[in-house]
Amino acid sequence: MFRRSMKCAILLYINIATLPARKGSRPVKHFLELANWSSPDLWYLIKLAVHLKMEWQSGGNRPVLANKILGMVFQKPSLRTRVSFEVGMKHLGGDAIMLGPQEIGLGTRESIPDVARVLSGFVQGIMARVFDHAHVLELAQHANVPVINGLSDAYHPCQAMADMLTIYERFDRLQGLKLAYVGDGNNVAASLFEAAAHFGLDFAIATPEGYELPQSARDKAMPLAEKAGINVIMTTHPAQAVEKAHVIYTDTWVSMGQEKEAEERRPIFAPYQVNHDLLQQAHSEAIVLHCLPAHRGEEITNEVADGPHSMIFQQAENRLHAQKAILVHLLA
Ligand code: CP
Ligand code: NVA
Repeated sequence: MFRRSMKCAILLYINIATLPARKGSRPVKHFLELANWSSPDLWYLIKLAVHLKMEWQSGGNRPVLANKILGMVFQKPSLRTRVSFEVGMKHLGGDAIMLGPQEIGLGTRESIPDVARVLSGFVQGIMARVFDHAHVLELAQHANVPVINGLSDAYHPCQAMADMLTIYERFDRLQGLKLAYVGDGNNVAASLFEAAAHFGLDFAIATPEGYELPQSARDKAMPLAEKAGINVIMTTHPAQAVEKAHVIYTDTWVSMGQEKEAEERRPIFAPYQVNHDLLQQAHSEAIVLHCLPAHRGEEITNEVADGPHSMIFQQAENRLHAQKAILVHLLA
């Protein structure tokens, strides 16, 4: 009798010991805002992206995400984010499923916490593009798999990582460069400010009055900027922002969800166009970046977008490589 119960106890012990760790038994790491990450961890992601890009270009990536599925929740349209995440998962041996706005009704057909809990049982990671930033935070709060912010009204952290990778590839460094953003103080600008502070680039931003970076974005980025000791310029004069800049960056004047304001915004933003004359104020080796989609003839001219300083298509491709690093780090 004693021998039998000992045997049962040993078997039970082995079974429990060999079970995989329970989901949610340790804190899940998310990628929601760059301000939540440390500078060394973000540097690690850039180096990992460089490695994965080289590995891909020399024959393919190792299938480190085999059997992993990424659920991609989109409440807004997308080309780059959607394709680069799906292709990235496939390159790494995993897969992705697209969940468009008509499919799951995030927060309408079903509550955000319930969507997060249900998806966590099916997929190993969630990428979400939402309007309200609070919605991606709520998803993360209730998911027990990593959640990645694929753009919210407040931030676009994956874009900023691809931007840093592109600048790094061109200049072989980030620290000490000057990044000038010209246009709307939007989600892309907010994440760029945080990225500049993390990687030690001086940051200048020129926006029309009334379209500055929101106070909440400044409150998050300024302490990082102060810690890094970078110069920060916030102005309404594009020429002042781009003076001797190594990188000139612009984005649409009308973000997704602001379509009704388009007519009102166009004349206000017209002096903020990135064109040949503005480029003359920058460093002679300056590069021009744009997260795309571009509204050629509005925030950027064809001449500049297709000119020798433009790196916009290498930047777009780098979404793939930068996000693969995020996926490997969070999901592998
Ligand atoms: N830059 C960017 O996020 O592009 P999409 O909106 O096409 O994903
Ligand atoms: N600021 C833009 C970025 C698109 C990638 C938007 O939110 O629509």
